[in-house]
Amino acid sequence: MKPLYGLIGNPVGHSMSPDIHNAALKDAGIDGHYHGFQVAESDLAHAIRGMKALGISGFNVTVPHKVEIMQYLDKIDVTAERLGAVNTVRLEEGQFVGYNTDGEGFLHSLLEVLDQPLSELSFLMIGAGGAARAIYTTIAEYGPKCFDITNRTIEKAETLIESTSEKVPSSALPLHAAEERLREYDVIIHTTSIGMSPNVEGTPFSLANAKDTAVVCDIVYNPIETKLLSEATHLGLKTVDGVGMFVGQAARAFELWTGITPDVERMKSIVIQKLGGTPC
Ligand code: ATR
Repeated sequence: MKPLYGLIGNPVGHSMSPDIHNAALKDAGIDGHYHGFQVAESDLAHAIRGMKALGISGFNVTVPHKVEIMQYLDKIDVTAERLGAVNTVRLEEGQFVGYNTDGEGFLHSLLEVLDQPLSELSFLMIGAGGAARAIYTTIAEYGPKCFDITNRTIEKAETLIESTSEKVPSSALPLHAAEERLREYDVIIHTTSIGMSPNVEGTPFSLANAKDTAVVCDIVYNPIETKLLSEATHLGLKTVDGVGMFVGQAARAFELWTGITPDVERMKSIVIQKLGGTPC
């Protein structure tokens, strides 16, 4: 049987995962297909059972199923367990095993611009949702000097800090306090949906207090240059756009399924072309 891969989420219509994975399958000479499946929350259990019955080789999981899906899988790998969410599933000897490649995907894109080890850097995260958890947990393992979290709902930032087993000096801060203290941070990572199309004028706060050497990352990839990244560029700061994280998680998922490392630059160019923009 030709291998079939997919994405489950709700909605999935605008996802670019089918574009990049189908291109990667073709480049790898694999006669398979990747398809986006829109699955309502109430249908999740049935969908997983159906995918197993059909012999789907692997699939990605996106909003709103990343946490709920865990109860329907046969095994969860340690990283996904620690992150508390699954974004990739692989069929292994008839069993569905859950993985999470989001944190690694982000880290890969960040490392491309850093010239110091993570242990020498102070981080600030904006947001405390699922994406923030993956990034915080992944980077915390490398023992950064400090990793503060700012969020509209401060309790969620506190919960995220408390729930991570890695002990990194971390404080939960209101947005206005983080904005005032921006010069303390080497890396600023934005993980909320502020500034995402169509609300492109949104930005979490001003970067006026950031230090000259700060790196500013935004996981939003539509638009590629968010208002936050545009301000960072204007101030002469280094930036990391959301395309890198998106493509990074996809590349790790593709490796898990096929054992083949895809051409990440080709994946990036497909996304950029579809978005009709230029990368930062
Ligand atoms: P994801 O899985 O993509 O991270 P999520 O778990 O829903 O999504 O988390 C969304 C994050 O964006 C949260 O930190 C949320 O803040 P709250 O915890 O206060 O809800 C943040 N967020 C979303 N819209 C926001 C807005 N308009 N202003 C400030 N923060 C916002």
